Amino acid sequence: MNEISPIDERSAEYAVSPIFLERWSPRAYDGQPMPEDKLLTVLEAAHWAPSAYNVQPWRFIYAIKGTPEFDRMLDLLVEFNQGWAKNAGALVFIVSKTHSAPPGAAEETPNYSHSFDAGSAWGLMSIQAQILGYHAHGMTGLKFDKIPETLNIPEGYRVEAASAIGTQAAPDVLPEALRKNEVPSKRRPLDEVVFKGVFAAE
Ligand SMILES: Cc1cc2nc3c(=O)[nH]c(=O)nc-3n(C[C@H](O)[C@H](O)[C@H](O)COP(=O)(O)O)c2cc1C
Repeated sequence: MNEISPIDERSAEYAVSPIFLERWSPRAYDGQPMPEDKLLTVLEAAHWAPSAYNVQPWRFIYAIKGTPEFDRMLDLLVEFNQGWAKNAGALVFIVSKTHSAPPGAAEETPNYSHSFDAGSAWGLMSIQAQILGYHAHGMTGLKFDKIPETLNIPEGYRVEAASAIGTQAAPDVLPEALRKNEVPSKRRPLDEVVFKGVFAAE
């Protein structure tokens, strides 16, 4: 249970591991640099995600708070995200390789699931962060046009998202308008998203 923002609001219809309810995406971080070994532990977990043909299309580019690389990455977020993510302990950009050679193939062809697999890796990243007492917060509010050049990302990679990671702080580190949002969100009822047999019309 998190003392800064209780997760009481969250409940599951089936008995999932509490870690799934405890994981959420705060914006209030304490500004402390994340120890690099902890961040690498989080990225190690991400990299154990499954992927089609085990091609592992994800790539992660990270920076620790307090370094010039962090400031450079922060500048790649839209203004709104910069406002809160500046206090994260680390930033990670997640990119995926769009083409790969399936087993036995000599040539690389478009990999149908490169984004899906990278998203799966981010999911594991966020859970490992939670297990270590940190919180990850995904972002696609990014300056996508500037990212490849600034981060030296070659052709053939899609910028998927970025993630802030750090130690949660009390909401008062945030601008007034954002404080009320510092509570874990709920989910739709399960039967709105899970269908037995065939897709059920909405
Ligand atoms: C791919 C992705 C992109 C997101 N982009 C942003 C963003 O740019 N800014 C932001 O404040 N939150 C962003 N979020 C956070 C979501 O709003 C948040 O995950 C969602 O409301 C569910 O809340 P929870 O993660 O606390 O359970 C993003 C999350 C994901 C997974």
